[in-house]
Amino acid sequence: MRKGGAMTMMMMMVAVALVFSCVSSASAQLDPHFYSHSCPQAQQIVASIVGKAHYQDPRMAASLLRLHFHDCFVKGCDASILLDSTASLASEKRSVPNKDSARGFEVVDEIKAALEAACPRTVSCADVLALAARDSTVMTGGPGWIVPLGRRDSLGASIQGSNNDIPAPNNTLPTIITKFKLQGLDIVDLVALLGSHTIGDSRCTSFRQRLYNQTGNGVPDLTLDASAAAVLRQRCPRSGGDQNLFFLDHVTPFKFDNQYYKNLLANKGVLSSDQVLLTGSPATADLVKLYAANQDIFFQHFAQSMVKMGNVSPLTGASGEVRTNCRSVNHN
Ligand code: HEM
Ligand SMILES: *[C@@H]1O[C@H](CO)[C@@H](O)[C@H](O)[C@H]1NC(C)=O
Ligand SMILES: *[C@@H]1O[C@H](CO)[C@@H](O)[C@H](O)[C@H]1NC(C)=O
Repeated sequence: MRKGGAMTMMMMMVAVALVFSCVSSASAQLDPHFYSHSCPQAQQIVASIVGKAHYQDPRMAASLLRLHFHDCFVKGCDASILLDSTASLASEKRSVPNKDSARGFEVVDEIKAALEAACPRTVSCADVLALAARDSTVMTGGPGWIVPLGRRDSLGASIQGSNNDIPAPNNTLPTIITKFKLQGLDIVDLVALLGSHTIGDSRCTSFRQRLYNQTGNGVPDLTLDASAAAVLRQRCPRSGGDQNLFFLDHVTPFKFDNQYYKNLLANKGVLSSDQVLLTGSPATADLVKLYAANQDIFFQHFAQSMVKMGNVSPLTGASGEVRTNCRSVNHN
C-alpha cells in the first residue's frame, strides 16, 4: 500500500516534470552553457571587444543593442540582419528601419574574427548579437542577465520581414502591440524593452512627421511638450537635415537608467512610438509610471524580456549553420 502510494507519487512527479519541460521547450533548446566546453573563452572575447568599441564610441552600446532587436524580429534571432547583399540575396540592411540607421557591423566583424581565431566554426553570429546586447546594457549601467546560447545562423534574409515586422516610429499603439504579439511578446515586454531608448540616437527623419504634420492635417503631434518640440524643430526642419541626430533620452543619453520613462511622463518622448506608451492605453501608461518610479523593477523586467526576445524562433540543432563570416553564408 505504502509502496504503491510512493510509486504513484513518483509517476505524478515525472508527469509534472514532463509538463514543465514541454511548457519551456521553446527556450529549452538554448543553454547558457552551450559553449562551456567548445569555446569557454567566448563570452570573455565578446565582452572585451564590446568594451573597447564602447570606449572608442559611446554610442556603440546602443547600436549593438538595437541590432539584436532588429535581428530577432525578422525570421527569429538568426543573424539574418548581418548578411550583405549578393546577386541572389537582398540584405536586410537595405530595409527602411535599417538603411542609414543600423550600425555596429564592423564591431560584430571584429568579434567574429577573434572568435574564429580562438574556436573556429563554433560560436554563431546570432549568439554574438545576443551577448553583445547584454554586454552593451551592462556597460552603460543597466542590468545583466544570463544569456541562453546555441542559436544558429540563417542561410537567408528577409527584407520584406524587416520592412513589415519591425515596428515603425509612426505606428499606432495597437499596431505596435500587434507586431510584438507576432513575436510572442506582450505589453510588459513592449514597455520594458522600449526602455532601451534610454540610450542612443534617432535621426530627424524618424520623428519629423510629428513635428509638423502628425496625421496629415498639417498639425503637429500635440502630445509632444511644446518646448521640446521647439528644440527638435531647430535641427529638424520641414525639409533637409534628415540625418541630423538627436539623443533618444536627452537627459542622460549614455546611461542605461529609467530616465526614458520620466521623459515620457514629461511628454518629452522623442518618437511618436515612445510617447504612445503613455497616451495610448491605461495598461501601458501604468507600466510607464511603474518604471519611472522604480528602476529596480524596470531592470528586472528588462532583463526578463531581453531573454524572451532572444528566444524568438532560434535555429537550433542541425538547422542553419555557424557562419565563419557574419556577412555571408558559408561556401563550404
Ligand atoms: C515600438 C518599437 C520600436 C520602435 C518603433 C523603435 C524605433 C526606433 C527608431 C526610429 C530609432 C532611431 C533610428 C534612426 O533614426 O536612425 C531607434 C533607435 C534605437 N532603438 Fe528602437 N524602436 C523600437 C523598439 C526597440 C527595442 C525593443 C529595442 C531594444 C531592445 C530598441 C533599441 C534601440 C536603440 C538602442 C536605439 C538607438 C540606436 C543607435 O543609437 O544606434 N528599440 N528605435
Ligand atoms: C509613416 O511613415 C512612413 C515613412 O515615412 C510613411 O510612408 C507613412 O505614410 C507614415 N504613416 C502614417 C500613418 O502616417
Ligand atoms: C501633411 O501631410 C498630408 C498627407 O501626407 C499632405 O497632403 C499635406 O500637404 C501635408 N501638409 C503640410 C502642411 O505639410
